Amino acid sequence: MLKEISTKYILKEFDISRQTLYNWIHEGLLNEPVKDWRGWRIWTQEDLDQLRKLLSEKNNKNLSIQKHNDDTLLEMSNRRYLGSKQKLIDFIESIIRENVENFNTFFEPFAGTGVVSNYYNNQNKVVIVNDILKSNYIAYDTFFSSESYDAEKLIHTIKQLNEAIINDDNYMSVNFGDRYFTIQNARKIGYIRDEIDVLYEQNSINAREKNILITSLLYAADKAANTCGHYDAYRETLDNIKELELLMPNINDDANINNQIYNCDANVLVKEVQADVTYIDTPYNSRQYGDAYHLLENIAENKKPELQGKAKKIKQRSHIKSNYCTVKAVDTFRDLIENVRTKHILVSYNNMAKKGNGRSNAKISNEEIIEILKQKGEVKVYETDFNAFTTGKSKIDNHKELIYYCRVN
Ligand SMILES: C[S@@+](CC[C@H](N)C(=O)[O-])C[C@H]1O[C@@H](n2cnc3c(N)ncnc32)[C@H](O)[C@@H]1O
Repeated sequence: MLKEISTKYILKEFDISRQTLYNWIHEGLLNEPVKDWRGWRIWTQEDLDQLRKLLSEKNNKNLSIQKHNDDTLLEMSNRRYLGSKQKLIDFIESIIRENVENFNTFFEPFAGTGVVSNYYNNQNKVVIVNDILKSNYIAYDTFFSSESYDAEKLIHTIKQLNEAIINDDNYMSVNFGDRYFTIQNARKIGYIRDEIDVLYEQNSINAREKNILITSLLYAADKAANTCGHYDAYRETLDNIKELELLMPNINDDANINNQIYNCDANVLVKEVQADVTYIDTPYNSRQYGDAYHLLENIAENKKPELQGKAKKIKQRSHIKSNYCTVKAVDTFRDLIENVRTKHILVSYNNMAKKGNGRSNAKISNEEIIEILKQKGEVKVYETDFNAFTTGKSKIDNHKELIYYCRVN
């Protein structure tokens, strides 16, 4: 048995650097070994055992993060959303490639799920992302912010929250249990959401960590919801009994440099920011997103507001009403385009329905979009077939998605 062991032997045997070894001593993870008459460290069998134990703990931790990552990371696109352009990204990219030479900043004032900005963020563009809904903003902070967060701590917290068994009722279970969720899932959503606030108030998590946990909860609740993808109504038969499961979001922090994230009215924001390329994707018809996603807003805010009607929508939701869903749509769009400070504008709109006053009629006509954009510069119109996620009531054959491109003079 070795009695005296040199540092050189340790480094070779355990394949670690001298700096790592000294860091661990400095951090108190290893005892400082005795030194010989030359000042060289002499390691004993006991030191060796301690080092072996430390390495095994570190390996297990890394393995568990690695395993977690491989199996169960939450992707930003992992949700259904009315008007999501996930399937249109290649089309958008082809138009930008054809018309824009080089650009640095990509601005999305109506970002919804954020999947289009996510694509450009991963192309190392600076993204400026906004939506009027708080539940969307929280997801942007999760995926696009550069504020630090402790992944290991969050994975551990998510595991604990997933394992919690909640038998008591709360605001969520009383209002949404046996309707949008099973009673068990609703209790757990209510409990987890309150717990996230407690962790934040105790300074156990920072603002971004709080938003990462809320995002994880919002996506999990959406997956467990007894709906057809939005919250205008729940299904009469509770047939989604999937157990709520929080996942750790897959965050590419290396890409998150200088991004800007907002939660305000797009018409106000366009006066404040400047970007090379602006992609505009307003609501098309009178269906308010604040109505369709009231339940996610309720979870995001956790203010336990008064509710109304069978669908249990937040009673006071005027702050998330959009002019783009009303007769004011044309004037509001005109104001937006007049004020946007950018070199290239792309506008998504579609031919799902002609302009009119019906619930699903478009609020702005093709001719109006072209006329308004022409005030800024030359306009081209691109068209593609598109299989959209709709409310489920309307079957749309030959659905076309239009993108209007305008090079600003
Ligand atoms: C058609 S969706 C955008 C979908 C998005 N491109 C995607 O891929 O997920 C329109 C979005 O605009 C938001 N919105 C509506 N009016 C707004 C306003 N005045 N300012 C900012 N966002 C608004 C809605 O909340 C909704 O998320």
